[in-house]
Amino acid sequence: MTKLQDNVVRENIPEHLVINALESAILVVDEVGYVVFLNGAAEQLFQVSKKHLLNSSIYNILPPGSNISNLIKGALKKIAGVMEHSLVLESPKIKRQIVDIQISPLDNLSQSIVINIFQRRIADKLGKQQSYLASARSISALSQVLAHEIKNPLSGIRGAAQLLEEGLDSDGRKLTSLICNETDRVVALLDKMDMFSDTSEINISSVNIHKVLTRVRDISAAGFGSNKKIIESFDPSLPPVAGNFDQLVQVFLNLFKNAMEAAPKTGGEIKVSTNYQHGARLSVVSSDDQTVLPLLVEIEDNGEGVPEHIQQNLFDAFVTTKSGGGGLGLAVTAKIVASHGGSIEFDTEPGRTIFRVFLPTFIN
Ligand SMILES: Nc1ncnc2c1ncn2[C@@H]1O[C@H](COP(=O)(O)OP(=O)(O)OP(=O)(O)O)[C@@H](O)[C@H]1O
Ligand SMILES: [Mg+2]
Repeated sequence: MTKLQDNVVRENIPEHLVINALESAILVVDEVGYVVFLNGAAEQLFQVSKKHLLNSSIYNILPPGSNISNLIKGALKKIAGVMEHSLVLESPKIKRQIVDIQISPLDNLSQSIVINIFQRRIADKLGKQQSYLASARSISALSQVLAHEIKNPLSGIRGAAQLLEEGLDSDGRKLTSLICNETDRVVALLDKMDMFSDTSEINISSVNIHKVLTRVRDISAAGFGSNKKIIESFDPSLPPVAGNFDQLVQVFLNLFKNAMEAAPKTGGEIKVSTNYQHGARLSVVSSDDQTVLPLLVEIEDNGEGVPEHIQQNLFDAFVTTKSGGGGLGLAVTAKIVASHGGSIEFDTEPGRTIFRVFLPTFIN
C-alpha cells in the first residue's frame, strides 16, 4: 500500500504509468533480439513509434556493428547484467547521443533482457543548468559593484585626458588618445557585464528562430565573417519560439563567433541546424518546473574542440583561452538561455564541437 498524501491512500499504482513516466528509455528484448516492450522515452530516443518497433529486431534501429549492438548480443548470450558508461549512440535518425546503458535479465524463466538507456544529456543537464544559474548570479553581484565603483572614476579619467589633449603635441596626443581608447574598452566591458545585473523580466514574444539565425549570419558576414563554409539545415515547419529577438540574436551570435574562431582556416565548416524534437520534456528550469523544450538549435564546427581543462567551467565568466578574449560570450549566452527557461549544452571532441540550445515554443 502506498501513502501518497496525508489523506490519500492508494493501492497498486499501475506499473506501466511508472515506467512511462521515466526519463530513461526502457526496452525488453527477447532471446533473438526482438523488441517485446518499450516505454515512451524509448520511442522518443529512437524517434520511432511503438507500433513500428514492437516485434521487430533491435538491431534494425541500432547502427550496424555499433558497440551497443555488441553489448546486447553479449548480454543475450550470457543472460547477464552489464553496465556501460558514455557509449556513443549514432544514426541518421537519432543523430548522436552519449548514453549510459544498463542491461539486466528480465527474470529467471525467459531469456529476455531489460535494456535501460540513460541519455547523458539529461544527467549532465540537471547538474549544469543549476551551476550556470549560480555562476550568473555571482557575476551579477560582482558586476553591480564594478559598474558603480569603476565607471564613474573612468569617466573622470577620460574627461581629464581630453582636456590635456588641447595643449599637447602629436606625440602627447597619441598618449591621451590611448588613455581614451583604453577607458572606452573598459567601459564597454562593464556594459557587457551589465547583462548579468539586469534581473528585470525579459520581454517575451513569438519569435521566428530562422529570422534570428539569418540576422546572426548577416551581422557576422559584415563583422567577423571569413571564408569558412556555412551549412544551414533549417526545419521549415518549426513553430515560433517564446523569446526575445535581440537577446536570442546575442545568444547565437556568441555561439557562431566561437564556432568561426574555432573552425580551421582551411576547410573550416560551420553547420547551423534547427530541429523539432517531438515530445521532448527534458528540461529542468530553475526549480520545480518542467517545461517542454522541443526546439533545438545546433551550432557545429570542425575545430579542435574545447580544451579539456576549461570544459567543467565553460559557462563561467572570464574563462577564455584566447589572447584577446573576454571569456564573457558563453557566460552571457548561458544567462540569456536560462532566462528564457531554455537549456544549453555542448559535446566536443577534436574535429567536432556542437553547442545545442533547447528553447520553449510560443503558445498563445
Ligand atoms: N566552438 C568552440 N570550439 C572550441 N573551443 C571553444 C568553442 N567555443 C568556446 N570555446 C572555448 O571556450 C572559451 C570561452 O568562450 P567564450 O565565448 O565565453 O569567451 P571567448 O570567446 O574566449 O571571449 P569573448 O566571447 O568574450 O570574446 C573560449 O576561449 C574557447 O577556449
Ligand atoms: Mg566567444
